[in-house]
Amino acid sequence: MSHHDERTFVMVKPDGVQRGLIGDIVSRFEDRGLKMVGGKFMQIDEKLAHEHYGEHEDKPFFDGLVEFITSGPVFAMVWEGADATRQVRNMMGETDPADSAPGTIRGDFGLDLGHNVIHGSDHEDEGANEREIDLFFDEDELVDYTLDTAAWVYEDEDH
Ligand code: RTP
Ligand code: MG
Repeated sequence: MSHHDERTFVMVKPDGVQRGLIGDIVSRFEDRGLKMVGGKFMQIDEKLAHEHYGEHEDKPFFDGLVEFITSGPVFAMVWEGADATRQVRNMMGETDPADSAPGTIRGDFGLDLGHNVIHGSDHEDEGANEREIDLFFDEDELVDYTLDTAAWVYEDEDH
């Protein structure tokens, strides 16, 4: 079942939490057949924000981005499934909600680039998923278990 166990890091941002979208967003990933293996309601401090968004350190929007992501609680998650990193990014839509198709999370819930509701590891950045999972979760905070519906989600999974 090795090709069903790709893990990716996903986070409902402070705007999504304040707007009551945690449940809707979790439901979308559950409905898709992905498996939650970690979840943590937390507030990001300055140090973690700098580590998480380090790639954008030299960009003009960096200070605003750090201020926003530390401004209130977030819901950090790890989701597992076939091609999980890319599939989650597809479900999120484009970086700018204004360019995101209806039916995507940003396309359904956002209008503003700076308040785009959700983060997901970039599938085009090799290893970003593992790096971000390690940054936010200890090994013992991730749960190994069998999701009984997997046999209905995947054709080659045993009942
Ligand atoms: P994220 O990392 O938050 O999931 O978003 P992303 O991959 O779709 O976009 P990324 O390029 O990594 O940018 C990180 C966040 O910075 C804000 N941003 N502002 N003013 C700007 O030009 C600009 N560009 C990006 C966005 O809020 C984006 O989510
Ligand atoms: Mg990004």
